[in-house]
Amino acid sequence: MTTPFNAVAQTWDEDPRRVAVAAAIVAKMLGALRLTPQTTLLDYGAGTGLVSLALAPHVGRLLAVDEADGMLDILRAKLASGAHGNVEVRHWSAGQDSSGLPEFDVITGSMVLHHVEDIPAAAAVFHGLLRPGGVVAFADLDLDDGRFHGKEMHTFHPGFDRDWLRAVFEQAGFNSVTFQEAHRVTKKFEDGGERTFPIFLLTAVRS
Ligand SMILES: C[S@@+](CC[C@H](N)C(=O)[O-])C[C@H]1O[C@@H](n2cnc3c(N)ncnc32)[C@H](O)[C@@H]1O
Repeated sequence: MTTPFNAVAQTWDEDPRRVAVAAAIVAKMLGALRLTPQTTLLDYGAGTGLVSLALAPHVGRLLAVDEADGMLDILRAKLASGAHGNVEVRHWSAGQDSSGLPEFDVITGSMVLHHVEDIPAAAAVFHGLLRPGGVVAFADLDLDDGRFHGKEMHTFHPGFDRDWLRAVFEQAGFNSVTFQEAHRVTKKFEDGGERTFPIFLLTAVRS
């Protein structure tokens, strides 16, 4: 399908800032989640697998899903050596039929939610894919004026108001919705200005 991520997939991992953001988010997720060799994990919007492949050694099985085939091709190439035998890759987005997917203990997503148009619908789909007591962990931007992405990349949301996102997940049937700061990204702009953008980690438990 047409997504701007196909065009940037080949060079995605060459940006050290993206790699650093993913590493910081992984560290927060590992601190927040109780992952075991029995855990089944769905990494939503997995992209080239910067987060998926760092989480994979801590779980039993990991399914990496994304709507951009270009990003998934990079991830598949990383898996071709046979390392990470517990990782599967699938083209899927929350707007598609989920009946072929198994139930998961954990669903993660790093910097994907701001690209998802209908967050309440997606939260309901995640609820349906988790076993009771299962956990979501989504890292994303706090609400800003859209300057993080600028005009180069379309997003549906310029970050999130935490109270709004908490209410959305509670409405979808999650409880214990918790936010913590995962990372801060400082960007310099052509006009000489500089801004720091906080990234949160939301965790919530499926009731
Ligand atoms: C900013 S990248 C983050 C990739 C990876 N999670 C990371 O942290 O390195 C966002 C990813 O989400 C994917 N994406 C965007 N909208 C999506 C949707 N509705 N369903 C599934 N994946 C989506 C994009 O194709 C892209 O690979």
